[in-house]
Amino acid sequence: MPFQQGLLATPVPAHARHLFFAVQLPEALPAVLDALLPLVDGQNLIVGIGAPLVRALGRDIPGLRAFPQLDAAVENPSTQHALWLWLRGNERGDLLLQAQALEQVLAPAMRLADSVDGFLHRGGHDLTGYEDGTENPVDQDAVDAAIVAGGQPGLAGSSFAAFQLWKHDLEYFKSLPQADQDNIIGRRLSDNEELDDAPASAHVKRTAQESFEPEAFMVRRSVAWTDSRGAGLAFIALGHSLDAFEVQLRRMSGLEDGIIDGLYRFSRPLTGGYYWCPPMAASGLDLSALLQA
Ligand code: HEM
Repeated sequence: MPFQQGLLATPVPAHARHLFFAVQLPEALPAVLDALLPLVDGQNLIVGIGAPLVRALGRDIPGLRAFPQLDAAVENPSTQHALWLWLRGNERGDLLLQAQALEQVLAPAMRLADSVDGFLHRGGHDLTGYEDGTENPVDQDAVDAAIVAGGQPGLAGSSFAAFQLWKHDLEYFKSLPQADQDNIIGRRLSDNEELDDAPASAHVKRTAQESFEPEAFMVRRSVAWTDSRGAGLAFIALGHSLDAFEVQLRRMSGLEDGIIDGLYRFSRPLTGGYYWCPPMAASGLDLSALLQA
C-alpha cells in the first residue's frame, strides 16, 4: 500500500519537529504545493492537510473535518491549522535547518503559525515515566487501523491524524503517592502491568480500544516535547478515519458517562488539530484528491 511509510515505522526517530501553517495567499497555493510535493518522502518528512487548506482549494476530502469543539467539563482546545509538516530525524540541527528551508518553499502562500520539537524519551516513555504505545496494533493490524484501504482514487493509502499537545504538571504528578499515579494511568509504573482494580477514571480503562462499539483501534505515535510553554506529550493518533480518536476523546472528557479521565488531573491539551495524510505516488506525495480538476 502506498502510504507515507514513516507513519507506521517503529521506533520513531529520536527527534521530531512539527510545523503548523496557516493560509496567507490562497492564489499562490497550487504553485507552492507543487514545489513541496517532490520534497516529501513520507519517511523523514510527513505531510498532513487540514480542513482550512482543503477549503481554500475549493475541494472536499471525505472524512476530513476540523478538530471539534467539545462541550465538556474539561477543555480540549481546537487550534486547527491548514497544514502540518512532521519532520523526523536523529539530528536536531538538521531538522531546524530543514524547517527553515520548508518555510521558504511555502511562502508566500502559507505562513508558519506554530511549531514544536518532540523527542523520544527512554525509547518511548511519557515524561511521567510510563511506557506509551504498549497496546498499539502492529504489522497488518496497524495498517488496518491506520490506513484507508479503498475508496476513491487518491484516498487509498491515506491516513487521518489527530494531534494534541498535552502539557503536564510533572511536579504535581510526581508528588502523588505511587499508587495514585498508577491509578491515573491504570498501569503499574514498575512493570507496566495493567491494573484490573484501577478506577473507572484510569486512562487505559477510558480508552480500552475493544470496549467501544464499534471497536476504536488506532495507532499512536506520540513523543515527549518541551519548550517555553512547558513539557508533556505531543500526542498523535492515526486512523483510517477520525472516529476512533473522537469517541475516545469524548469518553475521556466525560461526555459518555460523566467520568473524566484521570490524565486531566495533571495534564491538559494546549492544541488540537485533525489532518489528512495523503498517500504516496512514484513521484512523491499523491495530492490528486486535492488538486485534480
Ligand atoms: C497526557 C496525554 C496522554 C498520556 C500521557 C497517555 C499515556 C498513555 C499510556 C501510558 C498508556 C498505556 C500504554 C499503552 O497502551 O500505550 C496509554 C494507552 C492508551 N491511550 Fe493514552 N495517553 C495520553 C492521551 C491519550 C489520548 C488523548 C488518547 C485518545 C483520545 C489516548 C488513547 C490511548 C489508547 C487508545 C490507549 C490504549 C488503550 C488500550 O486499548 O489498552 N491517549 N496512554
